Amino acid sequence: MILIVDFGSQVTKLIARRIRDLGVYSEIVTPEELKKKRDYDKIKGIVFSGGPSTVTKKNFLKIPVKIFNLKIPILGICYGLQLIAKLKGGKIRSSKKRREFGRAFIFKKKNSLLTKNFFNSKTSVWMSHEDAVVKLPKNFRAIASTKDSKLTIIENNREKIYGVQFHPEVTHTQNGKQIFKNFLFLICKVKRNWDVIFQKERLIQEIKKTVKNEKVICALSGGVDSSVAALLINKAIKKNLICIMVDTGLMRKDEFKYTYKIFKKRYNLNVNLIDASTIFLKKLKNISNPERKRKIIGKLFIKIFEKESKKFKNVKFLAQGTLYPDIIESRSSTGSKTSKIKSHHNVGGLPKKMNLKLIEPLKDFFKDEVRVLGTSLGLTKDICFRHPFPGPGLGIRIIGSITQEKIKILQEVDNIYINEIIKNNLYEKIWQAYAALLPIKTVGVMGDSRTYEYICLLRAVTSEDGMTADYFSFPKKFVDKISNKIVNNVKGVNRVVYDISSKPPSTIELE
Ligand code: XMP
Repeated sequence: MILIVDFGSQVTKLIARRIRDLGVYSEIVTPEELKKKRDYDKIKGIVFSGGPSTVTKKNFLKIPVKIFNLKIPILGICYGLQLIAKLKGGKIRSSKKRREFGRAFIFKKKNSLLTKNFFNSKTSVWMSHEDAVVKLPKNFRAIASTKDSKLTIIENNREKIYGVQFHPEVTHTQNGKQIFKNFLFLICKVKRNWDVIFQKERLIQEIKKTVKNEKVICALSGGVDSSVAALLINKAIKKNLICIMVDTGLMRKDEFKYTYKIFKKRYNLNVNLIDASTIFLKKLKNISNPERKRKIIGKLFIKIFEKESKKFKNVKFLAQGTLYPDIIESRSSTGSKTSKIKSHHNVGGLPKKMNLKLIEPLKDFFKDEVRVLGTSLGLTKDICFRHPFPGPGLGIRIIGSITQEKIKILQEVDNIYINEIIKNNLYEKIWQAYAALLPIKTVGVMGDSRTYEYICLLRAVTSEDGMTADYFSFPKKFVDKISNKIVNNVKGVNRVVYDISSKPPSTIELE
């Protein structure tokens, strides 16, 4: 496998993903974790990620220097490159005046295994750091530079140590995948042997071994993660998996009924549907503060799930659809706490309270890998490729206070919007699309009469992983049609607006 050392870059996860996309298993560790004993025989290459630290200051994030003596090929990216250069005796300068953020063009200076088939007549890459190598360490040579001769790729061919100043893992770098291909197959000489479908059998056997004849409980939401986790565990232990679906009443139109039917009838799972919509609505009455809504929904969900699960005897395990990015995000390599933007609703607080052992069969996978796994388990396409949906559901898409009437209006609007997106073959081009209901009414005219109704907001974004997002540009034909269709079919709405903000500075959800 390939080891990725995370120095705190926002895009470290993408490195792991690119490598896995090429059929090679990779794992992310913090520099701190490198100090622990580990079996280096299995590690065929090491990648140092980028990060906000700077080697031009006294206190910079370091690694044990002995890593260079292991004779394992190393690729440093951005900060990773600067760290290599610094530790190997080169000079790095902070070039505040001529910072190279964003797009840059680089030029080939020498041939290298790392850059085979990488350059074209105008190679464009993505940079994000203000430090640059100004003097090469001993035994290193420059492979590429920018026009103003900043060194952008360096190598020590004999020791198999390489560094790139730009980010080959982001899609903005043209042909960045080639850098990883060359590093993996020409330099580390690894084989393609990571395939999610091959992992399926291993996972099923592992679940069998862990759970034996005990019972497992899981909260099934009908989202991709919990659905795939449930199908997988069901393959291993059949009816000993008990699924509980808590209907908050804040789901999309008919979604829960549909999901319940599929899991019960088609997949023959042990599913229990709990209609808790009345109590959710009651607790949310007159609450408009987004954080309070989130907390109320999250807490109530846990309370109901706990109560329902106690009805089943001899349950020893709680299954969760935790993914690999969730695990990496919950630790921090720099020790700095990121500021809390929103209280996410998930069932993470459950196991401690309920005294259950946790099983997380998807904890090694990325979302797209989970989808491959889902497909191979026979999960229907509409669930497997469904856009992400937040735990608090429509509760955070009805801005201001929530009423039954508003939920109904929003479900109808959202249903028309999403169906229209599907009909126009746009669903797969969009990372997430939804409708929200704004708490203001405006004047309109219908026939000869005045109307005074709500505004609904449509949002659609493209994204890699939800951390950043751009709004989606709909074809004019689509935009022209959607507003009329909504206003003509949904009573209570007379105006439709489209959200054209990206993340940052906005977020994907409104609350
Ligand atoms: P934001 O609004 O923070 O959303 O840009 C990023 C992604 O996270 C989803 N989201 C949630 N998912 N529980 C979830 O499971 C939550 O409480 C929650 N809040 C936001 C959001 O839909 C988007 O995909």
